[in-house]
Amino acid sequence: MSESPAPLADPHLVFDPVAAEGPRDLVVLGSTGSIGTQAVDLVLRNPDRFRVTGLSAAGGRVELLAEQARRLRVRTVAVAREDAVPALREALAGQYGAGEPLPEIIAGPDAATHLASADFPECHTVLNGITGSIGLAPTLAALEAGRTLALANKESLIVGGPLVKALAKPGQIIPVDSEHAALFQALAAGTRADVRKLVVTASGGPFRGRTKADLADVTPADALAHPTWAMGPVITVNSATLVNKGLEVIEAHLLYDIPFDRIEVVVHPQSYVHSMVEFTDGSTLAQATPPDMRGPIAIGIGWPERVPDAAPAFDWSKASTWEFFPLDTEAFPSVGLARHVGELAGTAPAVFNAANEECVDAFLAGALPFNGIMETVTQVVAEHGTPRAGTSLTVADVLEAETWARARARELTATTKSSATAATRNQTTAEARA
Ligand SMILES: NC(=O)c1ccc[n+]([C@@H]2O[C@H](COP(=O)([O-])OP(=O)(O)OC[C@H]3O[C@@H](n4cnc5c(N)ncnc54)[C@H](OP(=O)(O)O)[C@@H]3O)[C@@H](O)[C@H]2O)c1
Repeated sequence: MSESPAPLADPHLVFDPVAAEGPRDLVVLGSTGSIGTQAVDLVLRNPDRFRVTGLSAAGGRVELLAEQARRLRVRTVAVAREDAVPALREALAGQYGAGEPLPEIIAGPDAATHLASADFPECHTVLNGITGSIGLAPTLAALEAGRTLALANKESLIVGGPLVKALAKPGQIIPVDSEHAALFQALAAGTRADVRKLVVTASGGPFRGRTKADLADVTPADALAHPTWAMGPVITVNSATLVNKGLEVIEAHLLYDIPFDRIEVVVHPQSYVHSMVEFTDGSTLAQATPPDMRGPIAIGIGWPERVPDAAPAFDWSKASTWEFFPLDTEAFPSVGLARHVGELAGTAPAVFNAANEECVDAFLAGALPFNGIMETVTQVVAEHGTPRAGTSLTVADVLEAETWARARARELTATTKSSATAATRNQTTAEARA
């Protein structure tokens, strides 16, 4: 077990009890994404509980961002891309009535971090719904500012685990990932000493039941067709490779301080049970809802209260089948590799994640076959060797490791692409000759 006195996420602790009166001030990072738009929906349905003061996005969907700003009446809108500001200003002007004061706009790569930090005072909880390791800086800023952190951006925990651990107070993080929100709720049923193991469920993604050979020719469109969840493209491909499940195992280890050999993965195609905790007396507590991220988002932004009607519940008058299967570790080697990098710790998970993000981009661009994603990530992790680790690890170390991993993954995927192109050219030439 690690030395940390209490886990980062603990349902028995309320980090900062909110005054009973008045809505809770929220900053929503990544508001135009899948998590962000569902969070906005919850807030709009519960104005007595929540008030959004700041919104942040990359800047790709300014019309939506402006509409959210108007509907929520936010104080500040932040975009990472400075070149998106003119279009955002125009979109805001289109949304607001003549003479109505427009929200403040802040722009630049640090804009989300600014909103999460103590420089932006009107905030109790930061919901980090940004995609990718770019979410690390806002995560650290929110923790440093003493905000409650509703964390959907799992990458910030994966790449910056030791940094997050060093800053977070016990109970300061409320997980939003459905599996970790499920574990959070199930863990409330016992003490830490009562926990035997965590059981993380996986839908198995669109390729459940396929062999490694079957996966050789799958396309980006196949991988983006997730059977139970509608999510952003990166996490959807990560669900198809099961890299997402590997990241979640590392996330569970870091959040709940449970060793890797006591975290199991089980395939549950229906995605009704979002994860389970097995206690030492043999009891297993499962958290179950129809798949809908508004449930875990409501836990993240509302804890320790439950938000009524956050998401639909089951209709028990209808028959349903709930299945559980062991994981096929040969077709999906990603979970094993994730455990390995999680145990190595330090910069190793950052390298795993960064290499994977590059490979997902290459796969979506048609430059890498599906199985090539894990083959490339495995090679990059192996070349990284013994990670830089320990309490002296800095953000600069993590960024340096990431930069190296991205560059190396790009080199390797470029080689794959050129050999695939050469093979196609040779085949075409041979066919022409024949
Ligand atoms: N979606 C789910 O159901 C789900 C479930 C569990 C966990 N998660 C995790 O939640 C996170 C978000 O996932 P998602 O599916 O919601 O992603 P998504 O749909 O791709 O949305 C990403 C959001 O992040 C914004 N963004 C990107 N770069 C940014 C930057 N530098 N600064 C500020 N905002 C930035 C995007 O803005 P633009 O619109 O301007 O590009 C968008 O609002 C990921 O870490 C994912 O693993 C998601």
